Amino acid sequence: MTETAQHAAHEAIDKYPTSLRVLHWLRALLIFGLIAVGWTMTSLDDEMAEKFGELYPLHKSFGLLVLLIVLVQLGIRALSRLPGPADLPAHERVLSQVVHVAIYALLLIVPLMGYAMSSTFAHSDGVTFFGLHVPELLPKNDTAFRVFQLLHKVLAYTLLGLVVLHVAGALKHRFVDKNPKADVLSRMI
Ligand code: HEM
Ligand code: HEM
Repeated sequence: MTETAQHAAHEAIDKYPTSLRVLHWLRALLIFGLIAVGWTMTSLDDEMAEKFGELYPLHKSFGLLVLLIVLVQLGIRALSRLPGPADLPAHERVLSQVVHVAIYALLLIVPLMGYAMSSTFAHSDGVTFFGLHVPELLPKNDTAFRVFQLLHKVLAYTLLGLVVLHVAGALKHRFVDKNPKADVLSRMI
């Protein structure tokens, strides 16, 4: 390796790789859509044909898509060089890292709870991924269904709460902090 190439390899990285930036914003859009559709579809009258005929299958398909995207994203993340820790006061840096880890955990657990709920529900219409049949691997069980249903709901709204905190942090670093180095948003756009 030439000296210039060696220097370039050790240079600080100031942005997430393009693939991670694209996936971050695509997944953000999907999460907002899933929460909006989840909340709307559960409030609709059971007699409405679109409720179970269209909205539930769409919600399940996009929910499974999020799970796939997060797995791909974590794989790319593990193999990529990432920007170093943001130039923030220690307490803000730790808070943002804790929130990121919690968001990643919920991005995996929430769709898995959704799948487990549908899988254990005795009267489920099944799980499909954009029309493809997905096997329901768990045994039908009313008590388990109720636990997964509650966990899916509570954890989905917890995810929303964490995302609100996450967005508030990103906006604060851009518009309130006087230090341009604290502007982490520029690393993600
Ligand atoms: C990150 C992905 C997901 C998010 C953020 C999400 C979010 C939500 C939300 C907010 C609700 C409404 C809860 C309520 O107010 O009662 C909901 C309901 C529901 N979700 Fe998801 N969901 C996701 C993935 C999935 C997946 C993968 C499945 C199944 C394969 C699924 C199946 C369901 C079902 C069946 C309901 C209706 C529950 C009921 O009728 O009480 N979800 N989801
Ligand atoms: C549902 C919506 C969202 C989710 C689930 C989400 C999740 C995440 C996660 C897990 C990371 C950590 C990336 C990593 O290191 O691998 C991250 C980074 C980031 N997100 Fe989001 N995000 C969402 C929406 C947003 C929005 C709306 C904004 C901006 C207003 C934003 C701004 C950022 C920034 C600036 C970073 C980089 C932080 C840093 O470099 O330290 N995110 N996001």
